[in-house]
Amino acid sequence: MGITTAGVPVYDVVGVGFGPSNLSLAVALDDFEGAGSRPLEAAFFESQPSFGWHRNMLLPSSKMQVSFLKDLATFRNPVSRFSFVSYLHSNGRLAQFVNNCDFFPTRAEFHGYLEWVAANFTDRVEYGSRITSVTPVRGPGPDDPVERLRIHVSTASGPRFVEARNIVMATGLVPKMPDGVARDEHVWHSSEFLGKFRQSAASELKHVVVVGGGQSAAEIVRFCHDEAPNAKVTAVVPSYGYSIADNTPFANEVFDPGAVDDYYQSEQYAKDKLWDYHRNTNYSVVDGDVIRSLYQRKYDDDVQGVDRLRFMELSRISAVKRDGDDTWVTVQSLATGRSDDLDVDVVVCATGYEPMAVGRLLGDVDRFCRRDGQGRHLVGRDYRLATTGDLRAGIYVQGGTEHTHGLSSSLLSNLAVRSGEIVESVSRNRLAEPSDQ
Ligand code: FDA
Ligand code: NAP
Repeated sequence: MGITTAGVPVYDVVGVGFGPSNLSLAVALDDFEGAGSRPLEAAFFESQPSFGWHRNMLLPSSKMQVSFLKDLATFRNPVSRFSFVSYLHSNGRLAQFVNNCDFFPTRAEFHGYLEWVAANFTDRVEYGSRITSVTPVRGPGPDDPVERLRIHVSTASGPRFVEARNIVMATGLVPKMPDGVARDEHVWHSSEFLGKFRQSAASELKHVVVVGGGQSAAEIVRFCHDEAPNAKVTAVVPSYGYSIADNTPFANEVFDPGAVDDYYQSEQYAKDKLWDYHRNTNYSVVDGDVIRSLYQRKYDDDVQGVDRLRFMELSRISAVKRDGDDTWVTVQSLATGRSDDLDVDVVVCATGYEPMAVGRLLGDVDRFCRRDGQGRHLVGRDYRLATTGDLRAGIYVQGGTEHTHGLSSSLLSNLAVRSGEIVESVSRNRLAEPSDQ
């Protein structure tokens, strides 16, 4: 690590966020160094107090939606010590895992794997550290190009900053609420579900409404049916119940590393087509076993004359109103246009996410970034943002590249390969040491 004359640490790479994407980058950097290359000095900053991957959706029995072989390393380096198979081996579960013949571990087990890998990098991650902004560092002359970026970090002990020749932003998806609906103690987004649920008196809940037709909604409906035994659970689903996530072999090719090249080099017309053809592999869709288990529950309730689980199909919520302690959810039927107001204790909006917000943190630095005709960031195949010539520091993104790199941008499928490509690019573009070091 370098130090400026003012005593500020300078890294080759600073990772913003330490979820699976930048964890896989740490693994790729480790491989790079292990191959005898001059090490790239890296530091990662994570706002959570410890490693955590969508902890508020770690519902019991919730399963992975990607094969265990698409872990943090295997697709780039099949003999990595950081593979899921190595994790199983070191935990004495390899034989049982194989006997179980299931490519899709529970999310809880995969979380254990991610924590196991993250434990190897505690020397280069600062938890409880939120990056608040990034500013350009010119130097040494006022008209010189921007060689480095200053990263402002907020910690419990106060603000500080470091500098980097490259940053890799991986801050994750941004929760999306229905228009005009704000979160409060009775109105939750799925991304905060378990934390909020545990704070509530589950046995006192009388009516929970779960909004959405995706995997989050279906899993939460199932969980509430199990864990809130006295509550009526109403699922508001925009279509005829839940549609199945296409996980068949040909469709899965959309997540192959080669599919990134196909998408990247396609014209916009083809990109739009690819997106339309294969959106049902991921968005607004649900795993078949979850769909079947929900239908079975409803059927079993009907057989027993119990009216606890209700599906309001072809419906969307259009408003949430508060009247003193009461919460009312307005549900509108797509078929008839009719609106009903439901009196609820809690409404869970499993209404999805926006892509990673690339521009939000970049602030002042964003003006150096080039955009396409629709105002979207131009991104190189190596995940480096295209910038004007006077910004020479590298800004890489893991996420927020659906418009350039396709469907796997926000997923785990391609992490190992993507992180390797970023390390290669950083290494290729390694700048000469700035003159004040
Ligand atoms: P992720 O959101 O995981 O991590 C970003 C990290 O950055 C967070 O830890 C956050 O705290 C931190 N951060 C944010 N802003 C910061 C700041 N300013 N400063 C410091 N730190 C900051 N995909 C898949 O392929 N298979 C699957 O099974 C699933 N399962 C799944 C379940 C659920 C419930 C959701 C919501 C999503 C999935 N996904 C998925 C998709 C999901 O995007 C993917 O699994 C990873 O979370 C992507 O990893 P990232 O590291 O990019 O983001
Ligand atoms: P999603 O797939 O985007 O689904 C959001 C749903 O909310 C859509 O059905 C959407 O319908 C609906 N919706 C939005 N506004 C609405 C409104 N006002 N009224 C009614 N419905 C509304 O989001 P998600 O389910 O959170 O999934 C996001 C990602 O997380 C996916 O990649 C998924 O695979 C992943 N995930 C994985 C797991 C797991 O690994 N086990 C668990 C949960 C999530 P429209 O499309 O019609 O707007």
